[in-house]
Amino acid sequence: MIDPRHNLTLEDIDRQSFFHPNTDLRAFAAGELGDPTIMVAGEGLRLVDSKGRRYLDAASGLFCVNVGYGRQAIADAMHAQASRLAWYHAHAGHASEPAIRLTDRVLRLGPSGMRSIFWGLQGSDAHDTIVKLVWYANNAVDRPAKKKIIARDRAYHGLTVMAASLSGLPQNHRGFDLPIGPVLRTVAPYFYRDAPPGMSEREFSARCAAALDRLIVAEGPDTVAAFIAEPMMSSGGMLPPPEGYWEEIRRVLRRHDVMLILDEVVTGFGRLGSWFGAQRYGLDADFISISKGLTSAYLPLAGSIVSDRVWAMLERGSTRLGPLAHGFTYVAHPVCSAAALANIDILEREALPDNAARMGAVLIAQLRDRLGDHRFVGDIRGDGLLVGVEFVADRAARRRFDPALRLGTRVVALAREAGLILRALPDGDSIAITPPLVVTSAEIEEIVAGLSAAIDRAELARHADV
Ligand SMILES: Cc1ncc(COP(=O)(O)O)c(C=O)c1O
Repeated sequence: MIDPRHNLTLEDIDRQSFFHPNTDLRAFAAGELGDPTIMVAGEGLRLVDSKGRRYLDAASGLFCVNVGYGRQAIADAMHAQASRLAWYHAHAGHASEPAIRLTDRVLRLGPSGMRSIFWGLQGSDAHDTIVKLVWYANNAVDRPAKKKIIARDRAYHGLTVMAASLSGLPQNHRGFDLPIGPVLRTVAPYFYRDAPPGMSEREFSARCAAALDRLIVAEGPDTVAAFIAEPMMSSGGMLPPPEGYWEEIRRVLRRHDVMLILDEVVTGFGRLGSWFGAQRYGLDADFISISKGLTSAYLPLAGSIVSDRVWAMLERGSTRLGPLAHGFTYVAHPVCSAAALANIDILEREALPDNAARMGAVLIAQLRDRLGDHRFVGDIRGDGLLVGVEFVADRAARRRFDPALRLGTRVVALAREAGLILRALPDGDSIAITPPLVVTSAEIEEIVAGLSAAIDRAELARHADV
């Protein structure tokens, strides 16, 4: 007798047994959300799925495919390293050549004052590593009470236990008994929505810094270890730092000897038009996390970059406490390191950070030209190729649509039906446009035209007065 399970389609097997992240499990398994999308091939910004549908990916996957799909040179580098030595561990003084060369290369590309890199696999584990190192470093210098970490409202830093605790999105806490640990929260620099009418960007930045200062003073500076933030907030709203923001924040952190952890998981490797957001905004940091654009997602890899100052603290700790007992099996994986080196070759050779700056300006100009006067477009903002559009029911009052309608999500779904991939942000009414750094001006025209058509089809006027 034929076992009917042998006749299942790939889609059936997926629905039955594949555990999709961030998905309504029951509805998906029951087929209520339609078939899974199974991508099969990619080239540049173009993707093809198993049914032959074609897409233009203006989201870079999950903000990660910086050099675009289908780069043979990266595949070749992975193949060559896997053939020679697929893996050996990096514990207790072991290493591989690509991992050592990658460490040196990234430190040279990054801001000054950074000393070493702990290699993990993804943004989330980089943040868990960094929090452990912050605690360890403060223990090493006899500041055992200095342990609290401040994160911003709306922040997204990943979903492992500590990273999810740092993230400020309620849906990532609900049902998981999170957040845990000594995590505090301060305001996000959401100028468009939170600045009162007439307030300048500088005044608003000073207000954000004052809120941070008040929080640190109220908690006791001796208990606050670090502040974590993206140089420009991405998923939390596509919020470029308002004028003077980083100067003011940096001053507060220095005053209270609070470390700065820069989450460059999205902004690292060219997206803001410079190699790192730290350079774009003239920032020095105690830790910088990197992932995504580091390999352009050809393989998983993340780094926790540690400053000279923190390194000295860690050295003291490992002298006192014995070998620093943190590490994973796949730390500094040789094949992932080879992929990263080949990816950085492409970013450099094709000057892709410069292209991101140029094309980002073209994208914002075209969006403003085409949608700037649109009745339901409240704000168009961004830096480099991190760009957002926020929809509002009433432009003058900046009144939101009913959040339950999730109109941003609707616009993104309609664009996708027409083959354009964008990303809806978690608050429902903003969308992100973040194409690979290889995007051309012709592709930008295609993206803007596709977005405009999706907005027309979303019939926002029907929902404006409810
Ligand atoms: C800013 C930021 N930090 C951290 C992360 C977590 O990275 P990962 O999903 O690789 O764990 C993400 C992922 O989207 C991110 O956008």
